[in-house]
Amino acid sequence: MSAFREANRKAFNDLSATYNAKPWQHKLSQQVSDALQARRDWLGIQWAQSNNKYDRDVKLLDYACGTGAITRALGPYVTTIRGIDISEKMVEEYNKAAQSSGLSTEQARAVVGDLVAETVPSHLIGDDYQDFDIAIIGLGFHHFENPPLAVHRLAERLKPGEGVLVIIDFLPFSHERKVEQQYREQNPGADFPEMSHTIKHDGFTEQDMRRMFGDAGLTDFGFEIEVEPAVMELKSGTRERKIFIAKGRRTGHA
Ligand SMILES: C[S@@+](CC[C@H](N)C(=O)[O-])C[C@H]1O[C@@H](n2cnc3c(N)ncnc32)[C@H](O)[C@@H]1O
Repeated sequence: MSAFREANRKAFNDLSATYNAKPWQHKLSQQVSDALQARRDWLGIQWAQSNNKYDRDVKLLDYACGTGAITRALGPYVTTIRGIDISEKMVEEYNKAAQSSGLSTEQARAVVGDLVAETVPSHLIGDDYQDFDIAIIGLGFHHFENPPLAVHRLAERLKPGEGVLVIIDFLPFSHERKVEQQYREQNPGADFPEMSHTIKHDGFTEQDMRRMFGDAGLTDFGFEIEVEPAVMELKSGTRERKIFIAKGRRTGHA
């Protein structure tokens, strides 16, 4: 594993027990959840439930699942969920939360894995990790070493002609680097309190996302920006970032 991916694994392991503990973290998860729920029609998925009845199977891939914010947001509208995360502690938290919400391991379970590695791990090659109606990366994309590879790898796991890739992340926030640098200068020896060493990309523009989706052969590109900013109360100060949602559909025939 590269040093950068190892840094992510370790940092998110350390964070797993307190992820969402602070009010701003909780609010951010809620914003992501609300953004998805408000766009259920826009996402263009035929959901499992209509008129309060489950009438079709719908499979969701919650990639970089963390403790399961995306699963909680869309769980009621799908029938099968698979989570993948690089951090084994996050995966533990995900599985605990899924079970205590009454979901069976057949309905929802997460495993440790990295689809952005040079080689796809053998345990992620089977049918269980194929043919998704929807794959979502919630706030994980800026932590990936190679975002275009992530788009490509997730796109090939979607149902041909139907499956939709959704990425929720932040518009560019490179201006924050200056604040972090000042904080480190004023606090020599301080750790990386803002997880900045786990961030590879300081956000993405609509053009970045459109290009990556197009290069991976996805069509029907859509991009929306949430009006309300995400507010993060970090040790070095308050940050505001804008959340976007990008979507694209896999082409081809089932
Ligand atoms: C900010 S958290 C978001 C978690 C969750 N999706 C949510 O919305 O709350 C980012 C997650 O990405 C995971 N991650 C980082 N790099 C990864 C990679 N290469 N493959 C899979 N997961 C990764 C981290 O372990 C962490 O759980």
